[in-house]
Parts: sequence; structure tokens; C-alpha cells
Amino acid sequence: QSGLTALDYGFVNTSATKSAITYIDGDKGILRYRGYPIEQLAENSTYLEVAWLLIYGELPTADQLANFDENIRRHTLLHEDLKRFFSALPHTAHPMSVLSSALSALSTYYEGSLDPNDPDMVEINTVRLLAKLPVIAAYAHKKSIGQAFLYPDNSLSFVDNFLKLNFGNMAEKYDIDPVLGRALDQLLILHADHEQNASTSTVRLVGSTGANMFASVSAGVNALSGPLHGGANEAVLDMLGQIRESGGGVKQFVDRVKNKDAGVRLMGFGHRVYKNYDPRAMIVKNSADKVLEALGVTDPLLDLAKELEQIALSDDYFIERKLYPNVDFYTGVIYKAMGFPTRMFTVLFAIGRLPGWIAHWREMQTDPQTKIGRPQQLYIGSPERQLRKP
Ligand code: SDX
Repeated sequence: QSGLTALDYGFVNTSATKSAITYIDGDKGILRYRGYPIEQLAENSTYLEVAWLLIYGELPTADQLANFDENIRRHTLLHEDLKRFFSALPHTAHPMSVLSSALSALSTYYEGSLDPNDPDMVEINTVRLLAKLPVIAAYAHKKSIGQAFLYPDNSLSFVDNFLKLNFGNMAEKYDIDPVLGRALDQLLILHADHEQNASTSTVRLVGSTGANMFASVSAGVNALSGPLHGGANEAVLDMLGQIRESGGGVKQFVDRVKNKDAGVRLMGFGHRVYKNYDPRAMIVKNSADKVLEALGVTDPLLDLAKELEQIALSDDYFIERKLYPNVDFYTGVIYKAMGFPTRMFTVLFAIGRLPGWIAHWREMQTDPQTKIGRPQQLYIGSPERQLRKP
């Protein structure tokens, strides 16, 4: 026995590290990036501004932001050989699998400039990741729908370039939609960081071994893909669709959740830290109607989601367990209205979360107290026994 008594599955009561990046008060539903409330950043900031804030600790000056934006635009191109990587994958490949494997492949073009202890390499790889991950994401989308990859258009803003890579094509002129761009930019801000969630903890754990930034972020993408984590935004849309197709209505589904039928869960509900309404979910819910109206889209699944929330929040089963909507509950309806296929939803979460992953990886790398992550365990296996000689 290791002498350990407190068993703590899932790090429920464990502080794995110190961090100055994000603060959450789960009981009060508070989320702050470097001290700034998420509501103010979502309303008044941009994704690149928030990325700078998370990574460098302060809001950028106008010049810093302009240089950061320009630098990212100048690194959007992927090596031409890397585009052949995508042709090795089936068009049915899940975009999250494409994203994590392409990120690992991307790092092979930078052998010799991946040293985690070289500040110049950390800076250039920060920009490379922020610039190229969205391009890889758009290529995963194009691959899944059998359309040609477009080249990035560096005359466009970060979000407009990403939207054009996804929805533009070789046959038509692409018209920028400012409503779409602003709505996506705000969603990326809302996903940008969330302290020691499973994927960020994964990035830190992998990085603590000395693995490079690309390898660590690729591991984070894989952790995020699970339906209990970032994959929940995709699972919510599937759940709402099943409720609608079943014809049994919301009440019947809620009863199945309460009976724990075959592990049925209310996806997009519940959170390890928030025992109150996830402030991000509140912002998304409040903007969903406005965004769908501005996009000229109506979707019965939004009304279904609101009905589901209303029934759940008045039911003791959920109240006793402090289960509220989390960031994944309403985002999918907006992503769908934007035109993204359901399997791209978690990829959009990953693009949003990238600055947080980078910020935590850098914070860990520069913390002199950082040690390689190696949790303990309570051994419950066989006592010593002897191998019988033949
Ligand atoms: C994200 O950590 C982060 O910060 C994550 C995230 C981020 O920004 O990085 O916020 C993003 O991952 C949000 C969560 C997305 N996942 C889902 O929406 C999937 C559905 N939710 C859950 O599976 C669950 O709520 C978790 C995984 C989010 C949290 O799980 P916990 O904290 O380990 O809670 P638990 O599984 O121990 O559940 C406690 C009780 C249990 O009931 P009892 O066994 O005590 O009777 O609540 C029940 C659970 O059965 N429960 C649910 C439920 N979530 C918990 N019951 C029905 N539906 C749910 N969604």
C-alpha cells in the first residue's frame, strides 16, 4: 500500500498546479480571464485580443494587437506537402481525429525549432499554431464534404478568413458576412480558456514531460473530443434530434435520464466546477435568438433546448445534483445555423480553446517549480506471489 488513504477519482479535490490565467467560482458562476469577467470580454473584445491577454497576461496595445494579427496572417499557409496528408485519410474521418493527427504531422516540418526552452521558438510556434490550426480545421471540413481546399486569404480578418476557408469554394465569389464573423468571434472568446479542464490538464501533463507545443496541443485535442468534454456540443445536437424524432417529447426523455436508462445523460448539462448556471451558457443562450434571426434561420431544436432546460431546472433530480446548462448546451444550435456540420462543432471548440492551451503550456514551461506530472494511486491488486517454474 502506498500509505495513501484519500482516494480522489478524476482529481475531484486535487490542485495539480498554480495558475494565474483563469479564475472560476463554480458556486457563483464566475469566470474571469486574467481578472476580466467573461461577460465584458465577450461583449467588448475580440478573439485575438483575448488570445493575447491569456498568453501574455495583459490586454494588448493597439500596436501589439496589429502586429500579432499581421504575424498570424503571415503564417496561415501550410507546407504544400502537408496537404497530401489529408488525402491519406478517408472522407468519413472525424474532423477531430484529422485535427489531432494533422497537428502532430505539422510539427515534423519544424524539427529543430521545437525546443520548449527556447523563448524564440516558443514565440514562433505560438503564432504557427494560432495561424495554422484553423486552416487544418477548415481542410478537415472540406475533406468531409469532398470540396477542394482553398488557400487562406490574408487580406481578411482571422474569423472571416476561417469562414471563407470553410464556406467559400473555387466556383463562386465569397461574400463576407459580418454577422457570422462577429457571432463566431464571440463564441471563440467564450471557449478560450477554462483553467484545469480535462484537455488543458492533458496539455500541461504532456508538456511537463518536455514534449513540444504541437504534441501537447494534439493530445489536448484528443482529450477534448470525448463526449463528456468538448464532444458534448456535438452530442447535444444528436440528443435534441433524437428527442424530436422519437416523438416521445422532452418529458419522456427527462424521465429516461432520471432512470439512468442505459447511461442516458442530459448532454450539455452538469459541470465538475459550476454548481450554478455556466456564465458562458447564459451568454450563448441570450445571443442564440439574435444570431439565428440575423442569419435568417429558424430552428425548432432551439425551442426544444429551451423547453428541455425549463423542465430540467424545475425538477428536483437536477436541482439536487446542481445540474445546469453548460457551455455546450446551446452552442451547437448556433454552429448549425452558421452552416457547420455537427461533426465540426468540437473542432470549433478546439479553435476557441487553443489560446488557453498555449497559455497554460507556456505558464507551465516557465514555472521553475514545474515537475513531470505523475499522479499516485491506491494499489488494490494481488499481494506478492511466486511464479511456478514449469
Ligand atoms: C465541458 O471542466 C471544464 O471546465 C469543462 C468545460 C471547459 O470549458 O473545458 O467546461 C467544457 O466539458 C463542459 C461539460 C460538457 N459535458 C457534458 O455536457 C456531458 C454531460 N455532463 C456530464 O457527464 C457531467 O456533468 C460532467 C462530466 C460534465 C461532470 O461530471 P462530474 O462532475 O464527474 O459529475 P458526476 O458524473 O459525478 O455526476 C454527479 C451526479 C451523478 O448522479 P448520481 O450518480 O449521484 O445519482 O450528477 C449526475 C450523475 O449521474 N449527472 C448527470 C449529468 N451530469 C451529472 N445526470 C444526467 N445528466 C447529466 N448531464
